[in-house]
Amino acid sequence: MSLLLPDASDIAAAVAALHRGELIGLPTETVYGLAGDARNPSAIRGIFATKGRPADHPLIVHVADATQIAQWAREIPDSAMQLARAFWPGPMTLILKKAASVNALVTGGQDSIGLRIPRHPLALAVLREFGGGLAAPSANRFGHVSPTTAQHVRDEFGDTVPIVLDGGACAIGIESTIIDLGHGTPRILRPGQIGKAAIVAVIGEVAEGPREDSPRVSGALASHYAPRTPTERLSRTRLVARWKQCHEDGETALALSIGALPPGVDGIALPDDPEGYARHLYAALRSLDAEGADRILVERIPQADAWRAIDDRLQRAASHSDSPLESAG
Ligand code: TXA
Ligand code: MG
Repeated sequence: MSLLLPDASDIAAAVAALHRGELIGLPTETVYGLAGDARNPSAIRGIFATKGRPADHPLIVHVADATQIAQWAREIPDSAMQLARAFWPGPMTLILKKAASVNALVTGGQDSIGLRIPRHPLALAVLREFGGGLAAPSANRFGHVSPTTAQHVRDEFGDTVPIVLDGGACAIGIESTIIDLGHGTPRILRPGQIGKAAIVAVIGEVAEGPREDSPRVSGALASHYAPRTPTERLSRTRLVARWKQCHEDGETALALSIGALPPGVDGIALPDDPEGYARHLYAALRSLDAEGADRILVERIPQADAWRAIDDRLQRAASHSDSPLESAG
């Protein structure tokens, strides 16, 4: 693995590729994105084809600064400017009514658009030099775990995406908080590191969860962010019992614990604070998945606001296979 971070010539090469309509792997502070020119229909088609993502699942457009928002959105409410001032650049995506000039390919045919100014210095450098908007969904195949290192992106796409800028491991590790400001009452469509209380402090009351007439939000599908190995969520006590039972049944199981692994249990121990846990979660799920065990046993996390976004991702990771008793709780 190279320890050299990308320099000006790597950034120039990436920007030239984007101008040619090609796609690149782009680090952000949340997860790596598969980025393409948001004004180029063939680049947009390439994003959907490369990910294997249905064409009606909208993309997020990334820009370098808030002055560009008017090029992509119309009717920008005060709440958008307040949130922009509070959290951009950063892990927040705003859904606004789209500007007439925005190609419906980007928005999956919807009248709204997702916009974000990322905080990662490499992402900002590329956006500034590129000069326009970059559509960038997480750089994983549809339904798979999001990538948090350049190597994860290479593992997903190989030679199909030859340019992956290596910005190190993502500092946040889970996707941005998505706030819908385009349909009346503000609503959190996807929880993230910026939590509800922080948003309420800026704009007042905000609803949560999908709208009744919800558009396609792939991150909101039950089995998104999922490892291929059947994944169960259990309390620490039950996890130890299940692990023993698996071994008696001749199955291999690996655990994902909060803090140290229980004695005698194999797997990965994640930090016991929500920021540290989120930062390492997807890399841990990927490496457990790669072991080819029969099951991944995930220790239940605390039911507290600070763990809300992580709970959301774990629910989806385990939604194929949570044991009915445990998921009822
Ligand atoms: O942190 C992130 O947001 C990362 C990095 C790369 O910026 N991007 C990301 O993109 O997670 P993606 O495409 O994997 O997830 C974006 C989510 C999808 O669930 C999509 O449906 C939703 O945003 N979305 C985008 N535009 C929308 C719109 N107009 N209305 C509702 N949901 C929208
Ligand atoms: Mg995604």
